[in-house]
Amino acid sequence: MESAECVILPNLAIIGAQWGDEGKGKITDYLDETADLIVRFQGGNNAGHTITVGDKVFKLHGLPSGVVREGNLAVIGNGTVVNVEDLIEEMDMVLKAGCSLEGLRISDRAHLIFNYHKKLDGAEEKYRGRDAVGTTRKGIGPAYQDKIARIGIRAGDIFDDESLREKTDLILPYKKDLMEMLEAERCGCDSETLFNRIKGWRAKIGGYICDTSVLINEALDEGKKVLFEGAQGAMLDIDHGTYPYVTSSSTCGGGICTGTGVAPNRIEKVVGCLKAYTTRVGEGPFVTELSGEEGCILQKKGGEFGVTTGRGRRCGWLDLVVAEHASRMCGFTSLAITKLDVLNGYEELPVCVAYEIDGKETRYFPASMSKIERAKPIYKTLKGWKGWDDTASVVKSGYDALPKEMRIYIELVERHLKVPADIISIGPDRNDTIDRKKDWWN
Ligand code: GDP
Ligand code: IMO
Ligand code: MG
Repeated sequence: MESAECVILPNLAIIGAQWGDEGKGKITDYLDETADLIVRFQGGNNAGHTITVGDKVFKLHGLPSGVVREGNLAVIGNGTVVNVEDLIEEMDMVLKAGCSLEGLRISDRAHLIFNYHKKLDGAEEKYRGRDAVGTTRKGIGPAYQDKIARIGIRAGDIFDDESLREKTDLILPYKKDLMEMLEAERCGCDSETLFNRIKGWRAKIGGYICDTSVLINEALDEGKKVLFEGAQGAMLDIDHGTYPYVTSSSTCGGGICTGTGVAPNRIEKVVGCLKAYTTRVGEGPFVTELSGEEGCILQKKGGEFGVTTGRGRRCGWLDLVVAEHASRMCGFTSLAITKLDVLNGYEELPVCVAYEIDGKETRYFPASMSKIERAKPIYKTLKGWKGWDDTASVVKSGYDALPKEMRIYIELVERHLKVPADIISIGPDRNDTIDRKKDWWN
């Protein structure tokens, strides 16, 4: 019998290397052409993943990017949180756009988001005052709180009248007390109404719910190609991100295992999706942030407005301290560098290679908020590729046809992180992509 560690399992993960919105949707869509399963492992509909195929643009929140292609399975893993009503709306949207939902699967262990979570999300933000996180107000934090507190309702619970009744009876009085204390917007719901609403979901989503851990592991055993699609980014990780200005899930490498039920020794390759500059939505430290006019110019050039909330994204230069931290936490084996075309036209491009904190130079991202706030970026300034307005037009000619200065920029990142930039993205469309690896599954 072949020993387990000799078997190469064709799987690949895509994780954001910054604070989200790096272009994971585009890269997932590019790589999933040949995949059999596309699996979301954490987060919920706080995510906003954009996929551009010709003149069609899909903005997905709770659904895995795989739903856009027919013939594969699109899996919502156990580590996610699911707002069923929002998901049903999204499902209707993709069906109207001509996609099929035959391949959709939802883990029976995924936790559900309810209206009280959303109301509590808003109330907690108000309560934090000046220290508000700037959440998407989708109820993500409160839903994960319930999971950890062992009072959450899971997708599989919707089939069982008795246990569902027990859970709704337990949870609503508790939530109402909490909401009153936090002066949250009133929740008109009572336990009976909630029970019936959840029961009503059986007809809509019941057919998609199953044990997705078994599904994914069996697919791997059969040599099927599995692509794990991260949401948010490494710096929003609950442990390794800029706590408390983070989301409430494990966005880094370990989150793949806990969020799918696939063991760590089965994960093969991790693609770090790195935007050629840095953005962040919401509050929290951002060492290379560009304030004023410069930030506005980059925001406009990059179309940096949130897919989920419409908020303007804060913009700044590429920060390799952040990227290296992300790479360490996620184990990147390849990089997909995106939005390089947005940097067309700059005379010079500063890249942050280290921080100076209290007079000392460091390449490590500190845990302490006050240290990060005192950090000053140390830049290496590279020459831009001014004069190249249409870099997307050279995509077909491959990497060597890119402006020399752009290649120097890419190669600085590769050297710093010791990870090859196997994908270069210079436009939002599937086709605006240079693939320097091609054979992703072996
Ligand atoms: P995600 O959350 O990581 O999937 O990223 P978002 O979809 O929130 O934001 C990325 C935005 O950049 C989307 O509007 C994409 O269509 C767009 N995009 C992705 N890659 C590129 C690229 O290489 N160049 C340009 N100009 N836009 C890109
Ligand atoms: P994708 O998958 C960018 C941010 C919010 C806020 C913090 C906590 O599109 O990259 P939450 O609602 O999760 O409790 O908010 O996290 N945030 C994102 N920022 N991209 C995302 O997803 C994000 N999802 C959450 O703005 O600062
Ligand atoms: Mg996004």
